[in-house]
Amino acid sequence: MAVLSGIQACVFDAYGTLFDFNSAVARHRARLGDIADQFSALWRKKQLEYTWLRSLMHRHADFYQVTLDALDYCLVAFDVMDSALRLDLMDAYRQLDCYPDVRPTLEQLKADGFLTAILSNGSPSMLQTAVKSANIQKLVDRILSVEQIGVYKPDPRVYQLAVDQLALSPRKIAFQSSNAWDTVGAANFGLRVVWVNRFNQSPEKLPFKADAEIKSLSELAALLSK
Ligand code: LAC
Repeated sequence: MAVLSGIQACVFDAYGTLFDFNSAVARHRARLGDIADQFSALWRKKQLEYTWLRSLMHRHADFYQVTLDALDYCLVAFDVMDSALRLDLMDAYRQLDCYPDVRPTLEQLKADGFLTAILSNGSPSMLQTAVKSANIQKLVDRILSVEQIGVYKPDPRVYQLAVDQLALSPRKIAFQSSNAWDTVGAANFGLRVVWVNRFNQSPEKLPFKADAEIKSLSELAALLSK
């Protein structure tokens, strides 16, 4: 039985929800050796911290720059002096693998008549490249980037972008993210929210919660109805 009814559009977070951010380091695992997993985790952690810090400081830089800054932090932190690897990792980040449940889910949602969109911190060029390299461009109707407003999630203006650009009320939009803090931000704004808890995270101790929690996108279509 559908848990969320009256839905018109399914809006997805990008990194961690559609695209596997660990796949950049995975492609160059041999060059990093034993530290590869820790390196990838710290890269993601610093990337997110820099988005929050820049938004608080009112010093926006696009997500490509923030991702590069976070990578440079990690290269120093792990004492990896390899400028070719730096370029290769950034190149891989632009063409991340998508998770195996993404394509079948998008196909099902399109068959069910939902509008599909991405709402992400990613810059338009990063998102377009990622969507193209994952070959899901026909399954994603709209790509919405925070670059239009120059502030990062979870600022409510980001989620407002989905409402404005899709011309739908917040209650008609189901927002999916694997990032618990992003689901809190979207619920705080008033979207309907599904937490795709891929990483088995604990719930955030923040005042708003997702409407539903699933482990994989394969469970999504059954939750939604128009
Ligand atoms: C994004 C980050 C939060 O895609 O994963 O917006």
